[in-house]
Amino acid sequence: MGLRFIFMLTANDKTVEDAEIHLGTALAAGINHIGFKDIGLSFERLKNLNSAIKSGGATSYLEVVSLDKKSEIISAKAAIELGVDILMGGTNINEVLKLLKGTNIKYFPFPGKIVGYPSSLLGTVNEIVKSAKTLSLKKGVHGLDLLAYRSTCDVKTLINAVCECTEKPVIIAGSIDNRHRISNVKNSGAASFTIGSAALNGKYFSTEKNLDLQLKAIMKDVAEVNNHISKLYPKNLNHSFSEFEDIWNPRIAGRINDMQIKLVKVEGSFIWHYHKTEDELFFVHKGKLMMKFRDRDEIIKEGEFIIVPHGVEHCPVAITNVCEIVLLEPKTTIKTGNIKNTHKV
Ligand code: NI
Repeated sequence: MGLRFIFMLTANDKTVEDAEIHLGTALAAGINHIGFKDIGLSFERLKNLNSAIKSGGATSYLEVVSLDKKSEIISAKAAIELGVDILMGGTNINEVLKLLKGTNIKYFPFPGKIVGYPSSLLGTVNEIVKSAKTLSLKKGVHGLDLLAYRSTCDVKTLINAVCECTEKPVIIAGSIDNRHRISNVKNSGAASFTIGSAALNGKYFSTEKNLDLQLKAIMKDVAEVNNHISKLYPKNLNHSFSEFEDIWNPRIAGRINDMQIKLVKVEGSFIWHYHKTEDELFFVHKGKLMMKFRDRDEIIKEGEFIIVPHGVEHCPVAITNVCEIVLLEPKTTIKTGNIKNTHKV
């Protein structure tokens, strides 16, 4: 599974005053994991915020940052009453587990020793790993909330070690403000990460400072780090085709699971071939294509497509000078199918 981005409506470890407005921006941008903290807004407002997150189709997260036992218990009770999907943070695990018993709330406590406000994570990698192991073995603990960038350890080593010591998902919270850090988080094996302050304060590494564009920049970086070639913005076929000239040389324009979308310019005739297992779709964007089959020819005009099933011999021929084709086919497809050596390869 790809790395997941959780947007926190929080800055400096507090839910921000205008959380409701920012929530609207985040939902409109397509963010579907959204959280807040137990500090900053009244219970009534948090309740409305949680309802709005869920009715917007997103998963809700409450992160507990108050560390004394009494406040943490109040926050855990609030999480139950609010009906959040995921409770993150906190250090009084046994007490919270008792409260959560019988609810559907998933629980991701902090491993290690947490001090101060805004919170920092103390201890060596070994000490934090020991705590992570113990916590993740507890029934009712669904994963861990690691304040990796708030520790004094080497962050990559710490995330790696914590992710290796448990099968459960690890969320990396706090102080992520650029793609390099997102990439570190992904490569170290974490499941999710949170960003709050950086996006809300326009500090995420991007030229655009308003929240909508900050969130889009994060989503774009996450898509790239996750190796999702199809980025979260529209692609224009005229523009994409104008970026290359050579013929019979497909460019990968996107990916859908195991399928690839390729753009290719063609001229004259290709070669007769078939694909053992792959079906191919040819969509004519510009020009006219003839698809020769052994028993007949088909003409495909602009705006039309044809699907060539696997095992069927075919030979595409451009019948106009410019012929731009969008191909949709499994990523294992070799363009010459069963034919190996050809000057066209
Ligand atoms: Ni083919």
